Amino acid sequence: MQYQGEHGGSDSGPAVVHDFSSNASPLGPPPELLQAVLGADRCRYPDPDYLALRERLGAAEALDPGRVLPASGGAEAIRRLSLAAKLSGLTEVWVPQPGFGDYAAAALALGLQVQRYASAQQLSQALLQPALVWVCEPCNPTGERFSPADWLALDNALQCSASTLAVDTAYEPLRLIGASTLTQDLAERAWRLICPNKALSLTGVRAAYLLAPASSPLAEHARSVAPSWVLSSEGVALLMHWHSAETQQHLRQVRSQLTVWRDTQHDLLADMGWQQRPTGTNFWLAKPPQSGLLLPLRERGIKLRDANSFGLPGWVRLSTQSPQAQLALQSALKDLQT
Ligand SMILES: Cc1ncc(COP(=O)(O)O)c(C=O)c1O
Repeated sequence: MQYQGEHGGSDSGPAVVHDFSSNASPLGPPPELLQAVLGADRCRYPDPDYLALRERLGAAEALDPGRVLPASGGAEAIRRLSLAAKLSGLTEVWVPQPGFGDYAAAALALGLQVQRYASAQQLSQALLQPALVWVCEPCNPTGERFSPADWLALDNALQCSASTLAVDTAYEPLRLIGASTLTQDLAERAWRLICPNKALSLTGVRAAYLLAPASSPLAEHARSVAPSWVLSSEGVALLMHWHSAETQQHLRQVRSQLTVWRDTQHDLLADMGWQQRPTGTNFWLAKPPQSGLLLPLRERGIKLRDANSFGLPGWVRLSTQSPQAQLALQSALKDLQT
């Protein structure tokens, strides 16, 4: 039995050499931020109130520090917000399909009713009673985004149904095309989840934060059910440097490098007969011309994310990797061609 749901990245097998299965940037962390994480004081508890951190993040996000909720990763924040939704009396949760599996897993574990939507339009039409609504923007695994019209229609549906919006922005820093069209007004009324570790190539550091709406019946629950010292000292160090000028410059370079690498990787797979969905991020969905590739690739140290658990049998999700990793994938695929 699997301990947790299916994820990309490390598994219980030998270390992955070329990891296309995690959406994390392959370009490494900014040096100053990494130094801060490595130098974090592990000999003491962090401030249980995380005051300096919340003040720093609140200033950077232009909102009151009381609205910043540190979390030990996006996965923990998703569980916590789902529990807060239940405690505040909600019984229904809407999740994107295909979408990150943790939204549904968290809701199901709490006995909440899960509703799935395939498009923003479908969600806006079907949302009729109070619910927690997850939007992942840009979306994992599709890399798709909401248009201004999508947000507008959703905003109307949220208000009519008295629902609570939670926007997971885990891939905002890895958005390679366009910009978010979430309005400031709706953002103020939504929960927002910020998960910096993927863009920073530091997924082993479990750190994220939630931004609470200006007023929300979930907020007190989301604070009170947090374990004490939910965020480690390393996590505090990471988040303290998240908005620094050096980190932001690093992220600009990451996006520009990944844009070039993504195009070469896309062309390489197209030449080998792969079907590929358009994307605005560093990852996308693709369908190989033959089945049964994942296991032999994994045996060669190359990992792709099976999209079966997203409801897409025969498809994979892959992230942009370095030219060296792309060559390794190409050579392994040639070997395995029937
Ligand atoms: C959309 C999305 N949100 C949240 C997470 C959780 O990330 P973490 O717990 O590492 O912050 C992931 C991880 O893959 C994700 O894809």
